[in-house]
Amino acid sequence: MYPTINEFYYRYKTHLKLLMDQNRTLAFKDAISRAVQPGDVVIDFGTGTGILSFFALQAGARHVYAIDETSIIEYAQKLAIKNTFNEKITFIRKSGKDLTTQDIPEMADIIVSEPISSLLIEGDLWSSIEYLKRFLKKSGLIIPKSGNLFMVPVKSSPRLFQDSEFVLGSNNTYKINFLALPRNVMYESFLEAEAWLSKPAPILNYNLQKDTLSDTFRNSVEFAFQKSGQLKGVLFYFEAEIFDDVTLSSRKYDQNSTYSPLFAPTPQQPLISIGDKLVCRVSHEILTPIKKLWTLEFEHHSKLASPEEKPIITKFQSQFNIL
Ligand SMILES: C[S@@+](CC[C@H](N)C(=O)[O-])C[C@H]1O[C@@H](n2cnc3c(N)ncnc32)[C@H](O)[C@@H]1O
Repeated sequence: MYPTINEFYYRYKTHLKLLMDQNRTLAFKDAISRAVQPGDVVIDFGTGTGILSFFALQAGARHVYAIDETSIIEYAQKLAIKNTFNEKITFIRKSGKDLTTQDIPEMADIIVSEPISSLLIEGDLWSSIEYLKRFLKKSGLIIPKSGNLFMVPVKSSPRLFQDSEFVLGSNNTYKINFLALPRNVMYESFLEAEAWLSKPAPILNYNLQKDTLSDTFRNSVEFAFQKSGQLKGVLFYFEAEIFDDVTLSSRKYDQNSTYSPLFAPTPQQPLISIGDKLVCRVSHEILTPIKKLWTLEFEHHSKLASPEEKPIITKFQSQFNIL
């Protein structure tokens, strides 16, 4: 099926933004130029505009299999011709899990892919990379190498969230009930480390080479509070190693970056005292190819004045649809 003109431009704008993010794109170029050896066979999974395939050929790859399921691949093909790379690239417009040995008839030395989102895992790219490992030599490499998703409770919220509470909340100026709107969304965050109520903790860790990659996960972390304040939500950011010493992170907000720290408001905003504990269970599932659900379950263990008394435990949970 062909995309409508709006879908096409939405997709094109996404790829333009990826290309304009020089920090991201140069990190991949650097990683590829270090990892690819002359004569290597490379799979570029999710090729988009073909940029990572072109970097692999600049680094001396013998042949690249460039895969993408969407129409953007037509532009990758046009760029390959313009840059005289076309004889060394096989373009395959397919979904990763539909690939066969007829599409990729030789074992590859390297798989390169950009499956990273602000919440680290993106669509079904991760589980498709797992599927693609069958086309990788035993000694083969995967770029990126690993990724960690971190979470930290915070005592402030980003401006956009505060404004939306004011404009769409129960006392809103329009006198309209906005409860049917999806209020549970994550917000790009500019919050600095002063807003953190504890140390960040890793909630998801993937080594692409060693781990079995999945698009769903469930994990829990415990935060011991070192500061007091009102819990407003939690912040997510990732740190990824693209290749030896080449890293990317969304920890600091940067308006030119593809990735940003994301703030998830908590449905309750308890006062936190030093010595309290917050247990968070986080799960991620895919509802449709483009709709993902993040569920956050919280347990606030509030420490009372006397150590003999049992802590009071308050539970609350929220769900976020990420489109
Ligand atoms: C984040 S973009 C990266 C594009 C390009 N590699 C770059 O670095 O600029 C991911 C690409 O993967 C493609 N993609 C996502 N899931 C896919 C799948 N299951 N099979 C094939 N392509 C997929 C998307 O269409 C998109 O073009």
